[in-house]
Amino acid sequence: MKKNFNIGVIGLGVGERHIESYFKFGCKVKKIFDFDKKKMLLIKKKYPSIEICSSENDIFNDIEINIISIASYDNYHFNQILKGIKNEKNIFVEKPMVLKEAHLSKVFNLLKKNKNIHLYSNFILSESPVFINLKKSILNNDFGKIYSVEADYNYGRLKKITHGWRGKIPYYSVTLGGGIHMVDLISWMVESHIVEVKSYGNKFCTNKSAFKYNDCTVSLLKFANGMIAKISSNFGCVYPHFHKLAIYGTKKTFENDIENIRIFKSKSKNIVKKTKNNYKNYYKGNAIKFFLESIGKQSLRKKLIERVFYSIKVCFAIERSIKNNKTVKINYLK
Ligand SMILES: NC(=O)c1ccc[n+]([C@@H]2O[C@H](COP(=O)([O-])OP(=O)(O)OC[C@H]3O[C@@H](n4cnc5c(N)ncnc54)[C@H](O)[C@@H]3O)[C@@H](O)[C@H]2O)c1
Repeated sequence: MKKNFNIGVIGLGVGERHIESYFKFGCKVKKIFDFDKKKMLLIKKKYPSIEICSSENDIFNDIEINIISIASYDNYHFNQILKGIKNEKNIFVEKPMVLKEAHLSKVFNLLKKNKNIHLYSNFILSESPVFINLKKSILNNDFGKIYSVEADYNYGRLKKITHGWRGKIPYYSVTLGGGIHMVDLISWMVESHIVEVKSYGNKFCTNKSAFKYNDCTVSLLKFANGMIAKISSNFGCVYPHFHKLAIYGTKKTFENDIENIRIFKSKSKNIVKKTKNNYKNYYKGNAIKFFLESIGKQSLRKKLIERVFYSIKVCFAIERSIKNNKTVKINYLK
């Protein structure tokens, strides 16, 4: 992997984890910017070589910086991506990349014109060894044909949307903010893509708060290979933060709960492989590693960009289905 990249990081919540990863993979984090000066000073204490900035433009205008990591609030991502492209920076952007479909097309077209610019997002679930092994098993046909999947993004952190920035920015979508991880995980795992969605949303859990948007969405998804899935973004659940998954194949079934993973090998409840569910126990910075490895390689660039645009396009289709109460076919950007 080429290592002499200079990095600028904007936003120091999850952005602090980006910094750790860049250093781990041999890059130099040159500059950081956050609205909160105290956060910048704390990071500077930890990594004295980092320069703190008084504006994001100090990062965009620095010609030595080759990569910007965008970990700001969702509503800033779009403009920061545009500035990044204009200044010829490679871009690692937190999900959701943008909040409007029109913005998505704009970024897509700019990336088509600027083939030297790489972009990827922080999809982390597919780095869990539990899910990596499950995918291997599925591709090995151990489960037979997968015909149905259920995936719930149980947020369990309601306060973050009723009291934090998520409830205060001009628009927040639980699908774009949470369910996107399940869309990415399932599609990656079964290696097929979603062609049609029908979705519903409601807002029971936050009805006494200032949060204005649906706090729960549920979607039925039709895949190109005929598989059906149900995905939910359940932000109000009385449940810990958890990614619940059930995979039904013609030969085996996978399910997980907070405690255990069970793989059913027969219709008898006795024939089951039960293991402790430690799917969260893994290093969460590998998306940055893949991004760094992809830089300068057109085939990898294409793969990562497709993955980012694919998942968010499905989420926008879910949004439209809820809004118009219609089944929505997905036309991917080309
Ligand atoms: N991939 C994941 O699993 C994952 C997990 C958590 C958050 N996120 C995403 O990361 C982003 C940040 O979320 P967070 O949880 O770190 O929030 P946070 O509140 O913990 O931290 C965000 C920080 O960014 C700063 N900030 C926001 N906008 C800024 C801007 N325009 N310029 C400079 N500083 C800015 C804030 O002052 C704050 O310090 C969001 O887009 C969120 O959706 C992704």
